[in-house]
Amino acid sequence: MVASRGRFAGKVVVVTGGGQGIGRATAQRFAEEGAAVVVADRDAALGQGVAAEIQQAGGQARAVTTDVADEASIQALVAQTVAAFGGIDILISNAAVFVLRGIEATVDEWRQILDVNVIGVALAAKHVVPEMRKRGGGAIVNLGSISSFIAQPQFVTYNATKGAIAQMTRCMAMDLAPDNIRVNAVCPGTVWTQIVESRARERGLDRAAADRDPDFGRSHMIERCADPVEIANAILFLASDEASFITAENLMVDGGYVAR
Ligand SMILES: NC(=O)c1ccc[n+]([C@@H]2O[C@H](COP(=O)([O-])OP(=O)(O)OC[C@H]3O[C@@H](n4cnc5c(N)ncnc54)[C@H](O)[C@@H]3O)[C@@H](O)[C@H]2O)c1
Repeated sequence: MVASRGRFAGKVVVVTGGGQGIGRATAQRFAEEGAAVVVADRDAALGQGVAAEIQQAGGQARAVTTDVADEASIQALVAQTVAAFGGIDILISNAAVFVLRGIEATVDEWRQILDVNVIGVALAAKHVVPEMRKRGGGAIVNLGSISSFIAQPQFVTYNATKGAIAQMTRCMAMDLAPDNIRVNAVCPGTVWTQIVESRARERGLDRAAADRDPDFGRSHMIERCADPVEIANAILFLASDEASFITAENLMVDGGYVAR
């Protein structure tokens, strides 16, 4: 059963890495707007927690424990989503790991971050797109970053993967336009999620202090970190029919960070 009311009524959405942070906020916002949501996180407890929160709020969701770096796991995700909700209309490729290293990164560290942040995004598209074709079209939103475009100290590994997202988004958009599938990315600035909070706490900064700190909130024109829902709202826009002529776009949602 899919809901009959809301901007995404009748739509089936898969959110990878939906167990916390931006993915959790995105899953919740889609459900509030009537979508049936599959929370596809590697961490079973986190994914099930978000699906339960959505159900308790009256929305439709289920968790499918998924490792996006594992092709068989993605195939099982697609099969279970289709069995539960009848198809897939929207894919949010949000799962990522934060292996933050400079040139000293080991081969294992490179493989770990490339497997999830790059190959995981490719595999999700590879196996979801055939289901979108059966529905006559769809939308994919990938998670890029300001790190797709700028240099940051000791971020060689992470920024390589986020730079790849910008180009994968453009190339996928070109290949999938004939299938009526739009592909875009949102590129957040610094968002107050677990990785940012733990890096701030290491420096003794709480949220208010981090918002004032040049390494966190102060570097944005809007002088604070973003809340996850502010990224989720941009993701929903790009996935919606309101963005029907937008594809191959890497949309900055960065409080003016890159422009300054
Ligand atoms: N937080 C930020 O400041 C920020 C800024 C720009 C871009 N982003 C991007 O936004 C996205 C979400 O970031 P976040 O801060 O919410 O991250 P997060 O670490 O809070 O959440 C990521 C989720 O992905 C899951 N995950 C990790 N590896 C997985 C895998 N192999 N398969 C399935 N799930 C997996 C984790 O279990 C976790 O629940 C990422 O793509 C990140 O690069 C974040």
